[in-house]
Amino acid sequence: MLVHFITDEPTKIPAIRAMLEPQYHIVPQLLGGGDTQISSNAVLMVDADLRERVRVEQIRLILQELGCIHEKLFVVQNHLRSMVAQAYALGATAVISRPKEIIVKLAQIEVAQRAAQSDFAIASPEIIDSAATFASMFSAVRRGKPIELSDAENATSQIINSIAQNGLSAWLDDVRRYHEGTFQHCLLVTGVAVGFAFDIGFSSPDVKRLGMAATLHDIGKAHIPRCILDKGGQLDPSEEEIMRRHPVIGYELLKDISGISPEILDGVRHHHEYLDGLGYPDGLTAPQISDLVRLLTISDIFAALIELRPYRPTMSRQNAYQILCGMDGKLERSLVKAFRNVALAA
Ligand SMILES: [Fe+2]
Ligand SMILES: [Fe+2]
Repeated sequence: MLVHFITDEPTKIPAIRAMLEPQYHIVPQLLGGGDTQISSNAVLMVDADLRERVRVEQIRLILQELGCIHEKLFVVQNHLRSMVAQAYALGATAVISRPKEIIVKLAQIEVAQRAAQSDFAIASPEIIDSAATFASMFSAVRRGKPIELSDAENATSQIINSIAQNGLSAWLDDVRRYHEGTFQHCLLVTGVAVGFAFDIGFSSPDVKRLGMAATLHDIGKAHIPRCILDKGGQLDPSEEEIMRRHPVIGYELLKDISGISPEILDGVRHHHEYLDGLGYPDGLTAPQISDLVRLLTISDIFAALIELRPYRPTMSRQNAYQILCGMDGKLERSLVKAFRNVALAA
């Protein structure tokens, strides 16, 4: 998504780039500088001192030319709340103040735009909110900020509620329709894991625990370069080596957060371990791999197989399940059998 960033302060341009790229393509424009062409499907973001009359007039002139732009976000710092009315008078569609709000708002706009482009009904509020939360968590990690456990809990609860109400299939279809890349993967894994937990009759705290482990399982990918994460096709050995660091990175990011349960940390660190000892990062063998990790690993592999990727056709749930069945020795046979209901349920 294109973000046209208008500011009166040159130092804000690298700052916004550091926060939003490469997820978003930033086109900066300095007030008082030359004209810049603005694409009609861009999101406009204005961060300028609205106490300055000259600035307000410059912004007004730019916006007059831009009748076609729907989303106009104004950044107004908290100590300048009196400028909020000015922002709306200039045509703001939303006023935001903190970096986290910017990330969440852009993620919401992105989902809404995808929904508008497709022929389907609008995305559910659970997808919009949980996707925005994933965007916010990943962005916080990339910027070196701490992860807020309450964000992960909110996203997990939204996904649990959606699956309890509408079922897993509706969730999987909707997520694949509106999202791509790492967020799609996280939303799918959490959905599959929650669906699995429901199907085998987990208590509500256990559903939540597995859901939280799934929500956070790939958070370490926030520190893996995008060119590796988004590569279409096989990773070369050096890229593979970097990619394989993500469980330990995730574990390190989370381990000191107060209140995080050891089961969640175990899931984040060990979701790529196999019963035969050939997984990573610790080469655990069957007796060392907990039930939660076994469930999470099955959910993770299945979700990765059915993901929608631009460079390959989507695999059917039947074929993905067959692949899991062929991983005997690596995954627990009785759990893969129990997973059949989840994998193939209409
Ligand atoms: Fe992973
Ligand atoms: Fe994963």
